[in-house]
Amino acid sequence: MRKPTDQPVIHSYPGMVAIVTARWNEKQNVMAAGWHSALSMEPPIYGIAVAKERYIHSLILHSGAFGVHFLPAERSEWIQRVGRTTGRELDKFSTFGIEYENGLTVDVPILTEAYIAYECRLIDVRSYGDHDWFVGQITQFYRDDERFLENGLPDFNRLEIPLYLGRSEYAVLDATVRRKRHFW
Ligand SMILES: Cc1cc2nc3c(=O)[nH]c(=O)nc-3n(C[C@H](O)[C@H](O)[C@H](O)COP(=O)(O)O)c2cc1C
Repeated sequence: MRKPTDQPVIHSYPGMVAIVTARWNEKQNVMAAGWHSALSMEPPIYGIAVAKERYIHSLILHSGAFGVHFLPAERSEWIQRVGRTTGRELDKFSTFGIEYENGLTVDVPILTEAYIAYECRLIDVRSYGDHDWFVGQITQFYRDDERFLENGLPDFNRLEIPLYLGRSEYAVLDATVRRKRHFW
């Protein structure tokens, strides 16, 4: 039975993990962010929570830009790898074989294998406890149309979506997903 507890409970998983990229002064980096959110449709605005000690934190602050990506399940090992190593010590792109192109509207790496990606121009930063909330206006969208149905829902025969469960464990939304009825 549910009881009050003195232990902190942040129930943010299962959930999709955003892969964040940034580049500044010839340094570039990539990390995993489970805490992220769409904030506005018009104009399109996206937010990510980045702890102050992350190497990517200063790259975003200095460059004023970041990339947000979602990787398919066949690349979920990259989520874990970029989320467990720091770019201070290694180049995660070459170490893990992560391919990218250069952004079209801002100077960020855009991951080739992402099925969705956004280029974001930093418009606000606020500190909340041990994380900073970076807010970006999306200046470029990318989408792999082949992985979606005409109605915009994921085509689970072509796109398997990794969900982070916590404790380095992942589940996969795939064609075996049990769809609930359509609610009105
Ligand atoms: C699944 C997962 C989710 C994570 N979510 C966040 C997050 O939302 N914010 C954050 O600051 N760090 C998060 N991290 C931790 C960073 O990705 C990790 O500290 C990374 O090594 C930082 O890289 P950097 O030092 O190269 O910037 C997450 C890690 C994993 C594995």
